[in-house]
Amino acid sequence: MAFRKDFLWGGATAANQYEGGFDEDGKGLNAIDVLTNGSATSPRKVTWKLPNGQTGATPVEWGGQPFKLPKDAVPALLEGYYYPSHTATDFYHHYEEDLKLMAEMGFRCYRLSLNWARIFPNGDDKEPNEAGLAFYDKIFELCQTYGMEPLVTLSHYELPLALIQKYGGWKDRKLIAIFERYAQTVFTRYQGKVKYWLTFNEINAIDMAPYIAAGLLDSNLNDRANAAHNQFVASALAVKAAHALDEQMQVGQMLAYQPAYPYTCDPADQIKVMEYNQQMLFYTDVQTGGRYPDFKLKEYEREKITLDDRPEDYELLRKYPADFLSFSCYGSSVLTTHEEAARESGNLGINGIKNPYLETNAWGWATDPDCLRLALNVLWNRYHKPLWVVENGLGWADELTADGKIHDDYRIKYLQANINSMKEAVELDGVDLLGYTMWGCIDLVSNGTGEMKKRYGFVYVDRDDHGHGSLARIPKDSFYWYQKVIQTNGADL
Ligand code: BG6
Repeated sequence: MAFRKDFLWGGATAANQYEGGFDEDGKGLNAIDVLTNGSATSPRKVTWKLPNGQTGATPVEWGGQPFKLPKDAVPALLEGYYYPSHTATDFYHHYEEDLKLMAEMGFRCYRLSLNWARIFPNGDDKEPNEAGLAFYDKIFELCQTYGMEPLVTLSHYELPLALIQKYGGWKDRKLIAIFERYAQTVFTRYQGKVKYWLTFNEINAIDMAPYIAAGLLDSNLNDRANAAHNQFVASALAVKAAHALDEQMQVGQMLAYQPAYPYTCDPADQIKVMEYNQQMLFYTDVQTGGRYPDFKLKEYEREKITLDDRPEDYELLRKYPADFLSFSCYGSSVLTTHEEAARESGNLGINGIKNPYLETNAWGWATDPDCLRLALNVLWNRYHKPLWVVENGLGWADELTADGKIHDDYRIKYLQANINSMKEAVELDGVDLLGYTMWGCIDLVSNGTGEMKKRYGFVYVDRDDHGHGSLARIPKDSFYWYQKVIQTNGADL
């Protein structure tokens, strides 16, 4: 048997993409609540206001394109825009039904995030919002009833909007203490109910989507470097607080991992991939090793980056590394210094270059049957920390057929290959793997595009890109397939 007996099979969601109830029971706005919808070809936008009353919307593309709001603009809700997070797929009012469906699939674990602004509506409020805390009490109690271990992300792109308006997001180190207090509040409240925590979802997304990941209004390198530093210190303080409260609590870190392949055997392409890996792994290097890697120190020196750091920060980073390492991995990408040649062959793909050996979905994401084994080996051999695949899955425009069902054999095929890849990493390579939570286990809003059309779930939710639909839940074919996978602990794929 490849997987450990207590392997944590389950699914994952994020509050801003799933919960809805955006202004209910005292919740404040978060960063994503002012993000419009988009599509595969048009980016989501952050809407803003200037002190003189002028308003506008600026694209926040994933992928590191420069992003900058006009001077003095603050993100704000505006009339006439559609904001998908406001209702999302309404877990806020469907949690009993949804948790029951997860339990029916046999989930041993449910990864969710707390909507930080539901608990501290402005981020730095004197007292937490009791109604917000009570909502998650109900969730965790039901998880206990069903024997599902919660894995809770403190910040899955859910920075309270007031902290962006007031401090400009994570570039300001005042957020460290604010986050520490939030972490302490929820660790104390949910002690005994939640054992596994994650601090920042896909922390390296600061480089790719600095508004979404860190509430930055300008993507310049200096702000991104400070945001990363502040999140590192905040994470270390969360580890410290959790251990001081309860030795059983474990706090992990979370990385967006995407294997990249060189397009040619030109050594310049190998260097490009090496540099890409350095940038991606910089975050986990710090969070597991407690020090900045040399290539990053050199880069900061070259780019004249000034970190607003303190000597004691580095002691914290050394003393309180991550207990385990988690990551998302959906597919792979291709890099090259010969972009023109690669593009001439009529290719698309996540970096604009298609891997001819792989299939891509309608959003240009390559489905790679080996990506999990590759990712798990790199991370295990570099860090030797227990690993956890907390996001993986296939975004697809599922169709409800005349028989009232969703026959998602393409999703089953994707998951069979990906779980098999994970199995090989355990069986052949000896990787210590704690669990697997498939992304978007019940359909939710796409983070990248804001669409409903890009679905991941084992359960279909009747809702479209314009906010229409009954929100009814319908298990897809993959629901029954995953049930069997869990029952056999991954033996029967
Ligand atoms: C990860 C995020 O980047 O990928 C999730 O942690 C996101 O929030 C997931 O939903 C899939 O991306 P998308 O753009 O298809 O929703």
